[in-house]
Parts: sequence; structure tokens; C-alpha cells
Amino acid sequence: MNDEESAQANYVEQHNAFEDVASHFQETAATATISASDPFETENLEAENTADPGRANEDGEEQDVASLPERPADPSTEHIGAVVYFSSISGNTARFITACNFPDEGINVYRIPLRTKEEPLQVREPYVLIVPTYGGGNVKKALLPQIRKFLNGRANRSFIRGVISSGNRNFASAFCAAGDIISQKCHVPFMYNFELIGTPDDHRKVREGVRNFFLEQRKQDAR
Ligand SMILES: Cc1cc2nc3c(=O)[nH]c(=O)nc-3n(C[C@H](O)[C@H](O)[C@H](O)COP(=O)(O)O)c2cc1C
Repeated sequence: MNDEESAQANYVEQHNAFEDVASHFQETAATATISASDPFETENLEAENTADPGRANEDGEEQDVASLPERPADPSTEHIGAVVYFSSISGNTARFITACNFPDEGINVYRIPLRTKEEPLQVREPYVLIVPTYGGGNVKKALLPQIRKFLNGRANRSFIRGVISSGNRNFASAFCAAGDIISQKCHVPFMYNFELIGTPDDHRKVREGVRNFFLEQRKQDAR
């Protein structure tokens, strides 16, 4: 085992508390193969404005129901956009999101459910996706099934405007690889990357960067 491999192995070992979820991830993360039932793995992942089938109501009719934000934009500010994030039980990304104070900037915050069996998140407004990388050094497995499931919803996918990814530098060339995959597949900019919970400088840059991005988009839409 070389230095890089042993650093990665140590890092994964130190996350015993994470074992339960990690094994669930790995089970579905054999995911790198192309399959018709997993459109996120296909190449035709163009942003489409087609609504998801949604959930059936009591009459059996399909409905497109937007989920509520985990943390809504502060009502005293002007609502300008949204952030969608995933964080495992180790909670690094959740801490990063809290530190960014998005609601104060008029940005809704939505959380992708921890488990794929939970009620799916349905986002129906433009958002920047912020997700950690979980390939254990394997770029092809960098994307968790929870994130894949969210992006497999065509309506969810149609509202993505950019991606920010996190990771750990121990994983060297696979550092933040989830961002590269999502950027390529969804044709959106890979806006920023950060390590673990980020630094105060990361929090400031991302808060301001996301705010300015949405303000700029709004100006362009108005033209
Ligand atoms: C099993 C496992 C695999 C990981 N694989 C990678 C990887 O391939 N690349 C990377 O940059 N970081 C990797 N990481 C680091 C995580 O992306 C990092 O710890 C992140 O902050 C976790 O966010 P969370 O606590 O919000 O889930 C891995 C972590 C674990 C526990």
C-alpha cells in the first residue's frame, strides 16, 4: 500500500460511526455501470423542463408536489434562489451549510433525505447543489445513491444551475470528484470545492458567490 492508499484507508477506518450508512451507500454505489433504469448514468442527461410524474392523489391522479425547504429564506429578505444539499450522519456538509447562513441572503435551503427510502425531495425552483464525495478514492463511485436518486427526477434536474462539492484531500485525484460528475452530466458549472466543513473563508466566499450568482441570473432573465 502506498502513502496515498494508506491515508485513504485510515480515513475510511476512522469513520466507524458511519459504517451503517456507508455500507448502504456502497451497496447501491456499484452504480457506476450504465443502466436504463438509472438515467443519471446515461449520457442523455440534458436539463429538461418535463415535470416528474409526481405522486398520486386519492383519486389516483398524478401530482407534482414541491417539498418544503428545511430552512426557508428569511421572510424579511427578498427570495432570490435555493441551495440543495446532502450530508451523511457525519454532518460535515450540514455544518458547512449552517455556517453559510443562506436564509439571511434570501436563499431557501433544501436537504436531500439521508436514506433513499424516505419521502423523495422535490425541488421546483432554481438551485445550486452542494454535495460531498463518497467514492473512497474511486472517481466512478463518487456520487451517493441518495444524490443520484434526487437527480434522476427530471423536474429536479431541470432546476439545477450549478454544483459545489466537498471532500477530503487524502483522496488525492478523487478529491471532490462528485462535483466533476454532476457538472458534466447536468451541464452546469462546478462553482467551488471545499474540504470537510470548510473554513470561514470558504463560508464567506460560497455565501457571497451563490448570492451574486442568483442576482446575476435574475438580471439576465430580466433582459
Ligand atoms: C467512506 C468514505 C468515502 C469517501 N470518499 C471520498 C472521495 O472519494 N473523495 C473525497 O474527496 N472525499 C471522500 N470522502 C470524504 C467526504 O467527502 C468528507 O468527509 C465529507 O466532508 C463528508 O460530508 P458529510 O459529513 O456531510 O457526509 C469520503 C469519506 C468517507 C467516510
